[in-house]
Parts: sequence; C-alpha cells; structure tokens
Amino acid sequence: MIPYGRQSIDEEDIAAVVEVLRSDWLTQGPKVKEFEEALASRCGAKHCVAVANGTVALHLACLALAVKEGDVGITSPLSFVASANCIAYCGGKPEFADIDRSRLCLSPDKVEEYCKTHKAPKVVIPVDFAGAPADLPRFKELSEKYGFQSVEDAAHAIGARYTFEGREYACGSCAHTDLAIFSFHPVKTITTGEGGAILTNEDELAVKLRRLASHGVEKDSSKFVPGHSKIVTQHQFPAWYHEMQDLGFNARITDIQSALGMSQLKRLDEFKSKRQQLVRKYNEAFDELERREIVLRPPWPENTDPCYHLYTLRLGAACKISRDDLFLALRNRGIHCQVHYIPIYRQPYYVDRFGVMPERFPETEKYFASCLSLPLFPDMDETTFDYVITAVLSLVQ
Ligand SMILES: Cc1ncc(COP(=O)(O)O)c(C=O)c1O
Repeated sequence: MIPYGRQSIDEEDIAAVVEVLRSDWLTQGPKVKEFEEALASRCGAKHCVAVANGTVALHLACLALAVKEGDVGITSPLSFVASANCIAYCGGKPEFADIDRSRLCLSPDKVEEYCKTHKAPKVVIPVDFAGAPADLPRFKELSEKYGFQSVEDAAHAIGARYTFEGREYACGSCAHTDLAIFSFHPVKTITTGEGGAILTNEDELAVKLRRLASHGVEKDSSKFVPGHSKIVTQHQFPAWYHEMQDLGFNARITDIQSALGMSQLKRLDEFKSKRQQLVRKYNEAFDELERREIVLRPPWPENTDPCYHLYTLRLGAACKISRDDLFLALRNRGIHCQVHYIPIYRQPYYVDRFGVMPERFPETEKYFASCLSLPLFPDMDETTFDYVITAVLSLVQ
C-alpha cells in the first residue's frame, strides 16, 4: 500500500540511534539538550523544550499560559483533535472560528469577529495547516488588541517560513506568538518516532514548561520557593534536594529519540526540497484540471515558503467522481489517501459537550466535503508518483 505519508530513515539516522544505545544515557542525557538547542537555533527561538509528543506539547503550552476552568480557547476546526483537546485538558472551553480560504488556516477575521461579540478568549491556537504558515503577524496584532495569548500549532510546519515587513521568519520562531509547538510523529516532516517540542522566547515560560514536562519538579536551587524548605544547611541545599512546585507530568523525550531527531534535523532541507518538488509536480499535473474546475490544488499563500506535510487535493464542481468513491477506487489500486480533517466540532465528544453547529463554518464544511490528501513523502520515487498521478487523473475526469 502506498501511504499518504511516511518517514525517511537512512543509515546515518540508524547509526545515530545505535550510538546512544551503546552510551550511558538512554534518557535525559546530552542528546536531549543538543536536540533542543538545534531546534531553537534552526527556528530562531530563544528556548526549546523537547517532549514526548505534539499533543503533550500543546497541553503543557496551555498549562504554562494558565488556561483554566471556564477559559475559552479558539483554534482551527480544520485540524487534528489535539489542537482543541489541549484546551479541554485544562478545563477550558474549546471554541472554533472558520478557516481562511486562501490558506486553509484559522481566519484572523473570524477570530476578530468573535472578539468583537464575546469576551476575548484566553488563548488562540492558529494551526499551520498542511505546512503552510497561518497568518501569524495578524494574530499578533489581534492578541495585542484584544489581550489574548497565542500558541502556533506548527505540528505540520517545521521548515516552513514566512515573510513579514521585509523580514523572513521560521514557523516555530515565536516572533508572532507566545509559544509554538512541533510534532515529530512519523508522518510529519522530521521524526523521532513519537516526539514533540515547545518553543518560546520568554524565559519564565521556558522554566515553567521544563518543570511541567518533568513531574513539576524543580532541581535548580535558584528557582526554589523562597522560605519553603527547612532542609537548608549552612545556607546551602543538599545536592539531592528538589521541589515539586506544580502538578506536572512525565512528558519527557528520550536520548534515543533526540539522537534520531538530531540526525533528521540535518536532513530537513533535503526533505523540504523533495516535498516542494513533489508538490510542484502534482500542481503541474493538475493545472489544466483546475482550469476546468475538476480539481482545486492546495494554496501556496503569498509571502510564504511552505514545507508541505500534506498534499490536499479538493474535488471541483466538474469532477466526475465523489470524494468517497475516489478514496475507495484509489485504495483498490493500493493507494492509501486520507481525509484531513473531519472538522473537530463534528467529533462525537465535541457534539455531545459543546454542540457546535456546522453551519457556523461554511468554509470548513466546503473544504471537508471535497478534500483528499494524496501521497506525499520524501522517498516517493518517480515510478510511485507516476502510478499515483495516472490513477487520480484517470478517475477524476
Ligand atoms: C495539527 C496537529 N497538532 C497536533 C498534533 C499532535 O501531535 P502528536 O501526534 O505528536 O501528538 C498533530 C498530530 O497529528 C497535528 O496534526
């Protein structure tokens, strides 16, 4: 079966992991720090805390921003459920605003509409859908105007960049949000097996995140709660002393994963270039069909340099086959496509608890009705690409 996405692992990736397996540290050793520093430097962010997966990265991000019972958080309905669940984990109320047609990301205009008619949300979580950056500078402007905090869900977007007022920024730089997160699941652009990271430019948030990721335990004596401990001897804390200051988690990543992450990060430019080449080839192959309204290609928003994680084709009004029949026909030919995503508000958990009406999100609904993600991964060779494109072209017209 040809998957819609998969990892690319080479001999150097394998050697990097084996080296750690032969070392003294399997977890919380030097590789975690190395990986965190490399990620922060690649994105131009001050701090990075690598964690067990993207979901826990979002959860800790919301906790660090003090999202709590009754707080509203707005995210894109066109995302993986984790983008909204993180708000609910903290006792908050996940809300949604419609997507912007030109990027398929959370619409800043719709978020502003919400802010004008309701109390401003506590947090807004724009998602860089499929690897195209959300309009982060607009969200920064809105966060200052309405007083909310923001987390860039860049789970799809490591390696993507955008330009604002003549300057280039990396997704994950936190130039326009308080925090950003990545996921390193195997279908994403780089992988650590399971894995994720949280980035920020704010020192205090970084300290808090690091603590939350490791049981809420603080080991740095300069950060101990003043006057709390009775264990102090001669004005010094014994080396074994530590304090649990928050109800944290074990959300740590291992050295084994971080070694793979370091090796994969070195290949990020290669992955990005292969993904962009494949996207261009798909776009060329669908050019004529788009003019005939048979299909719609994914957007390539102005002033952005996306690192596509998904190739999300949409079926147009003149398409001869329904999305679900196309999905099945491709599957019968050994091509495993996927629908990204069922709008989060349509999931039974969300329907039961929050009862959001699909009519409120016409752009998301339109997109959902006609989308199908075609295979896109760096090791997709020419023969596989030709097989997929021939199958799709023959079925849609
Ligand atoms: C947009 C988005 N956010 C968050 C996540 C969660 O990441 P993880 O699978 O690493 O927990 C995903 C995973 O698919 C995702 O697509």
